[in-house]
Amino acid sequence: MEPIIQFIKNSQNQYVEELKTFLRIPSISTLNENNEDMRHCAVFVADKLKEAGMSRVEIFPTEGHPIVYGEWLGAPGKPTVLIYGHYDVQPVDPVELWDSPPFDPVIKDDKIFARGATDDKGQMYIHIKSVEAYFKVKGSLPLNVKFIIEGEEEIGSEHLGGFIEQHKDLLKCDTILISDTALYEAGLPTITYGLRGLAYMEIEVTGPNKDLHSGSFGGAVANPINVLAGIIAKLHDKNGRVTIPNFYDDVLQITKEEKQNFKAFNLSDKKYAKELGVKELAGEAKFTTLERLWVRPTLDCNGIIGGFTGKGAKTVIASKASAKISMRLVPNQDPKKIAKSFTKYIKSITPNSVDVKISDLHGAYPSLSPLTGKAMKAAAVSMQKAFGKKTVFMREGGSIPIVTTFQKILKAPSVLMGFGLNSENLHSPNEHFSLIHFQLGIQSSAYFFEEYSK
Ligand code: BES
Ligand code: MN
Ligand code: MN
Repeated sequence: MEPIIQFIKNSQNQYVEELKTFLRIPSISTLNENNEDMRHCAVFVADKLKEAGMSRVEIFPTEGHPIVYGEWLGAPGKPTVLIYGHYDVQPVDPVELWDSPPFDPVIKDDKIFARGATDDKGQMYIHIKSVEAYFKVKGSLPLNVKFIIEGEEEIGSEHLGGFIEQHKDLLKCDTILISDTALYEAGLPTITYGLRGLAYMEIEVTGPNKDLHSGSFGGAVANPINVLAGIIAKLHDKNGRVTIPNFYDDVLQITKEEKQNFKAFNLSDKKYAKELGVKELAGEAKFTTLERLWVRPTLDCNGIIGGFTGKGAKTVIASKASAKISMRLVPNQDPKKIAKSFTKYIKSITPNSVDVKISDLHGAYPSLSPLTGKAMKAAAVSMQKAFGKKTVFMREGGSIPIVTTFQKILKAPSVLMGFGLNSENLHSPNEHFSLIHFQLGIQSSAYFFEEYSK
């Protein structure tokens, strides 16, 4: 392994330059105006897979954004690893809060700043470079490798599920390797074995058939904003529990052992609150912060729209108000079932004085991977070799919608070997990625090929 690791170390500058080119492509999946950039980005990924040594590379168009596939199957009898990642990124707004333009990567303090740096371009690029290093130094890989890189993760992976269903043979593998999660802290090798799921809903409340003068009409009709605020306020009780009937029915309780493992992280609530700029933490009563984040479901309003929001004052009762509400789910909650319970409950608490429309925007299943298994062990050993520290196992509050689908359809376990940090501003201004973790990630990935092929 030594020559490969040395080669990876020596290539860092080259890798960083290439990553910059990748980060310059504004591949925002949710905005139609970036559709051309999405295609351009898919081509970039496909080209890099070819350059890295994949023998077959294909771009599959979908109803949405293209899926990039690559493979090298030159190690018969050896296991096959399917590497998943996403080349799409989140929108950049509020753009005025960025210290440098989001698609003009800048390096500061050994970190690269750009939208997509840690989520997920920088992380997925790790595996393309480790494959390439292997080919350059050894001329071949010790196992079979497939890549599936999508462009719709940030919008719920709408077309990937169908694609996997239709291409079961193409995607056949022994394990799925994903780098789209975080290290527990800088320099600490971490494997994530659980992700939360998601049910994303929108509520629209309609009152009068037009905006009204709040003096001439105020008092005679229900104000949709007041009503909506009342609905949202009813969704939690005083203990921070979600009030939707049946919401907790399928929640898997954690074992004593897992509770102990969480304690071992020694998270300081005080320090955590300080980092986030809040006076104190808040959440469901009787659970620790890590439990609230990793194994308890939540409900949050992500945005609220309605009425007059310009400068100054305008006396008005708006005709409509709406809110975007997401629920993070845990095993074994089902996003479809939760969306139904949510809809039923909202209808039941909406007064007759307004109309309400509820839409299910998208969902994701929660996931849990067993800590045993060959791939999991190989990943832990590989990260330990690269980082020089013992690998820890944690859960995560965020979601990767496709993980459960992979497990169900391909019947292979997934290993989440992430190299980001939750403090790297993913989805927010000044997103960045540690170039040290980028380098150690490439080394970890190379070690993984070796370990898992044994
Ligand atoms: N990479 C993230 C998930 C993540 C976040 C992992 C933080 C580890 C730490 C992923 O790209 C993401 O943002 N997922 C969305 C999914 C949603 C849009 C369906 C999420 O969690 O909000
Ligand atoms: Mn991601
Ligand atoms: Mn993301």
